[in-house]
Amino acid sequence: MAWVVLQVDQEDNMSNPLIEMKNEYKIYIMGTEQVYANDNINLKIDRGEFVAIVGKSGSGKSTLMNIIGALDKPTSGKYILNGKDTSLMTDDELADIRNKTIGFIFQQYNLLPKLTLLENVELPLLYAGVKASERRRRGLESLGRVGLKEKYSQYPNQLSGGQQQRVSIARALAGNPSLLLADEPTGALDSKTSKDVISFLKQLHNEGNTIVMITHDNAIALEAKRVVRIHDGKIIFDGDTKEYAAKFQISN
Ligand SMILES: Nc1ncnc2c1ncn2[C@@H]1O[C@H](COP(=O)(O)OP(=O)(O)OP(=O)(O)O)[C@@H](O)[C@H]1O
Ligand SMILES: [Mg+2]
Repeated sequence: MAWVVLQVDQEDNMSNPLIEMKNEYKIYIMGTEQVYANDNINLKIDRGEFVAIVGKSGSGKSTLMNIIGALDKPTSGKYILNGKDTSLMTDDELADIRNKTIGFIFQQYNLLPKLTLLENVELPLLYAGVKASERRRRGLESLGRVGLKEKYSQYPNQLSGGQQQRVSIARALAGNPSLLLADEPTGALDSKTSKDVISFLKQLHNEGNTIVMITHDNAIALEAKRVVRIHDGKIIFDGDTKEYAAKFQISN
């Protein structure tokens, strides 16, 4: 008789959506006024999706990104990340789930100028408590994925903008996160370099990574598979990219 061993993965709750927001509000108090920066957001994102969150300046994108990235908590409503409700977490618990689950890609790369490329890429692994030899191995592997392994001992200011963004993507990938969260990833780049970065994100999506990309730029949003449009803190469109382009009469 054979024994059947059921393996239950405690870390990844694969049957749930990766991201689930239910009646999520973020309200800022400005003097006597209340600003509904997120106004009743309901959103589900599954593993393996490539979603663009698009909206004009002031529409609430950064606010939403901070909540998705577990950098901030909703004023009310629920945010469930990888099966865990973040609304009741302490700051330490939020930092922990953030370090384990999310790789961040920022508009301005946020590389530390006095650290080498490898040290920059290793940084999230250091925070996650990975030991030195393993950090180095994973850091080099990650730099290899973005084609910059040979430059590991150089410094950020010795690279072009596009290369620096690739290093920041390597840093985001190093911890093997469940979600890549990109905030205006091409905002600081010229159009050709932007195309390279976007095609690299598409490649990562094709390899199975889940990507949420925040942008104000419709042309960039059209590169994703699904578009969520926000306006005055509310979702006004959520669907397939082609449908989005047709509805808002956008062409690329
Ligand atoms: N800390 C804060 N205190 C008060 N109001 C805030 C705060 N952060 C954001 N807001 C307000 O919330 C709304 C949404 O801001 P948010 O930064 O999320 O917009 P955004 O879509 O990221 O804009 P941009 O494209 O310019 O970055 C705006 O009206 C903004 O003024
Ligand atoms: Mg913003």
